[in-house]
Amino acid sequence: MKERYIADLTAGEDITSFFLVKSIALKIGSNKKTYLDLLLGDNTGEISGKKWDISDQEIPGLQRIKENHVIKIRALVTEWKGMKQLRIMRIRLTGAEDQIDMNDYIKAAPEDPQEMYDYIYSRAAGFADRELSSICTTVLERRKEQLMYYPAAQKNHHAEMAGLLYHEKRMLMMAERVCQVYTNLDPDLLMAGVILHDIEKIDEIESNEMGISPGYSFEGKMLGHLVLGVREIEKIADELGISHEKAVLLEHMMLTHHYEPEFGSPKKPLFPEAEMLHYLDMIDAKMYDMQEVLEKTEPGAFSERVWTLDNRTLYRIGENDQ
Ligand SMILES: [Fe+2]
Ligand SMILES: [Fe+2]
Repeated sequence: MKERYIADLTAGEDITSFFLVKSIALKIGSNKKTYLDLLLGDNTGEISGKKWDISDQEIPGLQRIKENHVIKIRALVTEWKGMKQLRIMRIRLTGAEDQIDMNDYIKAAPEDPQEMYDYIYSRAAGFADRELSSICTTVLERRKEQLMYYPAAQKNHHAEMAGLLYHEKRMLMMAERVCQVYTNLDPDLLMAGVILHDIEKIDEIESNEMGISPGYSFEGKMLGHLVLGVREIEKIADELGISHEKAVLLEHMMLTHHYEPEFGSPKKPLFPEAEMLHYLDMIDAKMYDMQEVLEKTEPGAFSERVWTLDNRTLYRIGENDQ
């Protein structure tokens, strides 16, 4: 039984509980002593942990602990630069007798992957534009197995099991609504852009079936999902006999959706659907990050600094003031 969850820990308490190892490394401190540096997780969040002053005798045992293992620790919850941390006193690997339920450790999107997939697929299948429909349904069918668990990031927004599908589905819901307001937009083109824009994250980042990403692939590091996306569209459009102009429109949406060169886009959007795609992407990422950090913040208090939100500290509106 898991006793404690990361989101509920408060500084100063002494805890004993199970956590998932997200990363682990033995390091040498400035005092020349060895320490263990861990990133631990459960389905409520992540926390870093340190075990100081490791003796030579302890090292072989600690080297048996690897990423994705569940460990049991006794630790003191501390606070450093506004972030909670664990100062670990005892640590051990778990076994069958601990009856670990992996659902306690895996962060997953709040909706069922199959239902999200069906929602997206049914929209794509229903496009009046048959070319856009065929390219989107083909990509969805080919990527279905991975979409069921793929996160949308290694860290930050939608770094969770089936996070990529959840990101696409929420953007698709917004796309349908903005097209009712901005009637100059072509809904099929915007929705096709939403469905395809991040699909190459599947080749950019690596992930296990729990939606935990150990990092970027070789092609991901060298090219990124924008360029990989352009390449993929070109290939599939050619295979399906999609008209040249439509293929280029989609490739442009892949290439420009990060908007700024420093975020990987070599060009800015040159038509309204591409411009809107970028805004929908931003809205979903920002809303996700804000919700995440506020869930960990007490009502009436300010959050820790959020790197992805320009180091802002957010305010969680007090319960009485809502
Ligand atoms: Fe992206
Ligand atoms: Fe995105």
